[in-house]
Amino acid sequence: MAATSILPTRPPGPRGLPLLGSALDFRRDPLRTFVTAWRDHGDLVRFRGPVPVILVTHPDHLKHILADNFANYPHPDDFNRKVSVSVGEGLVTSEGEEWQRQRRTVAPSFRRESLERFADVMADSAGRMLDRWEDVCRRGASIDARIEMQSLTLEILARCLFRADWSADARVLGDAVRIQLEHINAKLIAVADLPERVPTRRNREFLAARKVLDETVYRLIAERRRNPDRSADADLLSMLMHSADPETGRHMTDQQLRDQVVTLFIAGHETVAATLSWICYLLSAQPAATERARQEVFQVLGDRPPTMADLPQLKYLKLFVQEALRLYPPLWQVARMPLRDDRLGGYHIPAGSFLLLNTYITHRNPAFWDNPEGFDPERFTRERSAGRPRYAYVPYVGGPRNCVGLAFANMELTIVLASILQRYGLHLVPGHPVVMQPDISLRARYGIRMTLQEVTTEQRTAADASPGAGVPAEEAAPAGGCPVAHAPAEPPPAPGCPYRPPAAG
Ligand code: HEM
Repeated sequence: MAATSILPTRPPGPRGLPLLGSALDFRRDPLRTFVTAWRDHGDLVRFRGPVPVILVTHPDHLKHILADNFANYPHPDDFNRKVSVSVGEGLVTSEGEEWQRQRRTVAPSFRRESLERFADVMADSAGRMLDRWEDVCRRGASIDARIEMQSLTLEILARCLFRADWSADARVLGDAVRIQLEHINAKLIAVADLPERVPTRRNREFLAARKVLDETVYRLIAERRRNPDRSADADLLSMLMHSADPETGRHMTDQQLRDQVVTLFIAGHETVAATLSWICYLLSAQPAATERARQEVFQVLGDRPPTMADLPQLKYLKLFVQEALRLYPPLWQVARMPLRDDRLGGYHIPAGSFLLLNTYITHRNPAFWDNPEGFDPERFTRERSAGRPRYAYVPYVGGPRNCVGLAFANMELTIVLASILQRYGLHLVPGHPVVMQPDISLRARYGIRMTLQEVTTEQRTAADASPGAGVPAEEAAPAGGCPVAHAPAEPPPAPGCPYRPPAAG
């Protein structure tokens, strides 16, 4: 590391415009702005503007912020304030001791052993979606994978939260949650954020949706209090209701439960939906890896639905999912604001600085990843991961405040992927533009239009012909370009993979 004495106190960065700094660039194309600045200025970049921003990408710096000195780095107040208009004071928006109390109470419901009960819900909902696709397939029509995956993940979450009662309220909840998410998204990127009491169309729609959401969730809580369920397959609401803080023995009040439920809807549906829609894209763009994954699925499962017990056998699928999350981390940046002055990479970081931890760049940094834009699931085998810093791969971040839904998400991603592979081949509609849209999550701006092809008998039986095909081997990892930049072969309008390795020399 360079001697700190010769470093200027502030990280380097682009000059930007007078007064505005880089603010307009952030609005126009945030991902490209960050990637370009990282290439031009290095691992820590300071952007000028009305609110100066420090870009953080190096694994050592992420580890310092997220783990070693985590208590000094809460979310910015502004972030918590904007998100809490919807979720109240749940796990995402609380800090300090209040956050610790909530985390102790909620985390046990998300341990692997608590989640087994939800595998059948995930497989069943995926199966029903695939049944609906039969007609689309027969007609030779197409689906938008982004929309399909949003509906699916919302249904799965609603069923896991309110097992018995989900169907009656699914539609209402679905619309209300979508409006909450869009509102939070708009607030987080707005230059001027109007308070909710100003009667704009968006605010009115948001408040109406929040009212519906509150009425529904409070009603479901009241019903469950009247008819408690302590069985081994109780849903998440019952688990949260009966979960006590191990230190104080206290249970959650109705309002705390409401805030937690809405938090889980907001944090746990769009993230998984975005990842699944990129996975659908990869099933079209990466045929060799897809067939390998399919063979593994038929070897392990045949035609039966996946269960939690199958997951350890689905080794190649795990690598496939890990690689999808590397290329398309749905939460591509997370914000932190230090409480006290600190030093990072030799630079002075004043208390109150706005830090953006950009995991998208970390995941494509050639210092830690060979062929960073290529799709290469086997880079995650134990052997090839040796020596890679832990914080080079952070789709769920890390440290005490990592994603509490990590095991739930991995289970859902693997079960849905396995279910799709059993039934259909997915093909991107030729010419459909696949463009990344870095909102609060990394989505496909124009959706992902795909046609479907039923899995053939040959594809099913290929698994018998090559036993062990899915098990990762160490030989030749498939080469490939950035899945967005280079595939499909026919030119879709400028797909948005902004990172290009610097030209040699
Ligand atoms: C692919 C799927 C997912 C990804 C990549 C993901 C990623 C993340 C990340 C990066 C954070 C930290 C955000 C920050 O600190 O600013 C986070 C937090 C969180 N996630 Fe996830 N998440 C996913 C799915 C889920 C699911 C399925 C749930 C619940 C059902 C969930 C619930 C939460 C909650 C409650 C937090 C806040 C934890 C805390 O502050 O203690 N997430 N997630």
